[in-house]
Amino acid sequence: MTVGGAVMAMVARVRAVRIDVVDDVPQAFADVVVDAVARRPGGPASSFCLVLSGGPTARRCYEALASRAAEVPWARLVILMGDERCVDGDDPDANQRLVRESLLDHVPAPAAFHPMTVADGAAAYGRRVAATFRPDLVHLGLGPDGHTASLFPGSDALCAPPGQLAIDSCDPSGRNPHQRMTLTLHALARARMALFTVSGAAKADAFAAVRSGMPVPAHRVCAEHVRWLVDPEAAGAAA
Ligand code: 6PG
Repeated sequence: MTVGGAVMAMVARVRAVRIDVVDDVPQAFADVVVDAVARRPGGPASSFCLVLSGGPTARRCYEALASRAAEVPWARLVILMGDERCVDGDDPDANQRLVRESLLDHVPAPAAFHPMTVADGAAAYGRRVAATFRPDLVHLGLGPDGHTASLFPGSDALCAPPGQLAIDSCDPSGRNPHQRMTLTLHALARARMALFTVSGAAKADAFAAVRSGMPVPAHRVCAEHVRWLVDPEAAGAAA
């Protein structure tokens, strides 16, 4: 894919990593998702497991995807969440509310939507993730501190054992509000594709840290394919 920018590729450990510098991150996100769903393993009769995120970049991405609703077989989509804040589902800070407002309220019903219901606990959501076999595409963001999902620098959630797919979490620095629930690095590693979207100069230092191999949480995400859609402001010198 060439979306008006440089395309760089690098390989690290067991993962294939691709970085696209793009002018319009939400539109590029929609392009990648529409294409991945169309090419889903197993063909038209098979389902596609999409894991969604929170944050303002994610909101813009889901609005862009909603504007392409006619290109997606929604009845084949199983949608899960990568992380959630420990608030009511209709709280303005709830990621599930963000997903409803920006995407689900504007498209046909998916086969299933499984919000992270914090009251049910992380173990229950971990079983839900295990039952989906493997996520086809996990959408992730990048925080200015290098966090992704609710995996924060120095957080115990980064040390979850291999069998644990979801875990309670919080930001030890206190900068990011709310107790959280998040998928673990082990759950993310099951994905066919981890798709990061990064936008704005405030993310430039964090993205530089990822590119230089510093062990910030986002850099520790492994999946079959790890793909980054980064705007020129966030890409900084790499753009
Ligand atoms: C959340 C997210 C979080 C987010 C990053 C980046 O619940 O907030 O899942 O990991 O993706 O903080 O968000 P932005 O790119 O929107 O700043």
